[in-house]
Amino acid sequence: MNTEKNTGFEKDWDFNEIIDRKNTGSMKWEPKVLCTKFGKGREDLLPLWVADMDFKCPTPVRHAMEKRLAHQVYGYTIPDPDYDAALISWFLRRHQWDIKKDWILTSPGIVPATNYIIQRFSKPGDKILIQTPVYYPFAQSIIGNGRTIVENPLKIVNGRYEMNVDDLEKKTRYPRVKIAILCSPHNPVGRVWTKEELERFGEICIKNNVLVFADEIHCDLIMPGYKHVCFQSISKKFADHSISANAASKTFNLAGLQQSSLIIPNDRLRNEFSIYFETLGVGPRGSGTLFGAIAAQAAYNEAEAWLDDLLLYLQDNFIYLKTMLEQELPGVTVFNLEGTYLAWADFNSLGLSPEKIVQVIEDGAKVALDHGDWFGKNGAGFERFNIACPRLILEKAVKAVVAAFKKVGRH
Ligand SMILES: Cc1ncc(COP(=O)(O)O)c(C=O)c1O
Repeated sequence: MNTEKNTGFEKDWDFNEIIDRKNTGSMKWEPKVLCTKFGKGREDLLPLWVADMDFKCPTPVRHAMEKRLAHQVYGYTIPDPDYDAALISWFLRRHQWDIKKDWILTSPGIVPATNYIIQRFSKPGDKILIQTPVYYPFAQSIIGNGRTIVENPLKIVNGRYEMNVDDLEKKTRYPRVKIAILCSPHNPVGRVWTKEELERFGEICIKNNVLVFADEIHCDLIMPGYKHVCFQSISKKFADHSISANAASKTFNLAGLQQSSLIIPNDRLRNEFSIYFETLGVGPRGSGTLFGAIAAQAAYNEAEAWLDDLLLYLQDNFIYLKTMLEQELPGVTVFNLEGTYLAWADFNSLGLSPEKIVQVIEDGAKVALDHGDWFGKNGAGFERFNIACPRLILEKAVKAVVAAFKKVGRH
């Protein structure tokens, strides 16, 4: 355990600590969920799939929750102005973006919020643009609400994913394209979009009257040397034509607490959305949860040092993964991780079919990864590794994957 002093409190975290998450209702580790997601008999896969971390959250978060827990009355709770203040201060400090208090609405999650936004700002039969391969609940929300997906596939240029701007120009002009979902940073390809890329994206969408929904849930998980630019911070015009979403849930491992924020600077959009929130029964400012707000507030106010240390740990984990896979399995490419803790690897050049790649990983290595084709058909043969786990777990998984592919050989 580290005891080094760190910005005002004891550095009491140890990302190498292995915590048994079985029998805690963890979606990532629960055998029943593994069988449902990966098939019968797969309850013992080592899980590096769904995007939460196998680390304890920062101690100040636990302390804040314990303090409130001790009160023993958990009745209906109004939105906490201190939560807004903590969020505002965090974004100003970390992202140099001045969010106004009035712009903030809360939601129990960004996935639910995506659905609400689709429902409010498009009609059945309308089209919604996504940049594949991308976080698959976007597609599920679009289809589930009776809208149509318009794909603007990313392209790989010199080993790095880029937006296909010409294709974006063309497709935002299609009739009935109402919303474009921006995943920034991008899950699963790990890009932190530059200001110039975001400017091009925003200009094209706005020119074609397409509302931008910027999902920035991973915006605090930025590798050293990269800088996240909040979409709405770029200009008043961008802020006015968009809704953005953020949360402390990925950053500080609080996803089970169901709390996220929507930022809607445009008064008309915010009022329309607020009325819709009320008709859904969640209240005009939305709703999160009692403990979600307390936890996020403590994290934003007191856990910055924990996050800075986490980012270094994640970077080391990533270097280990990339080095091992590329050295031991020549032909496999692991894309540079600019942001998120989700590493994206291309197994296609091994000469195996995407189905065989999945089979080697599940039956051979006994590891659970998010398979590339879940993110879109251009993800086939790719795999997403969640590297937010103690190094020993990562090593076990990577060694098993390497051994399983070596056994099968090149084709
Ligand atoms: C891009 C993106 N958006 C949203 C979510 C989930 O958001 P929430 O748990 O707030 O619904 C994830 C989780 O992996 C994600 O990667």
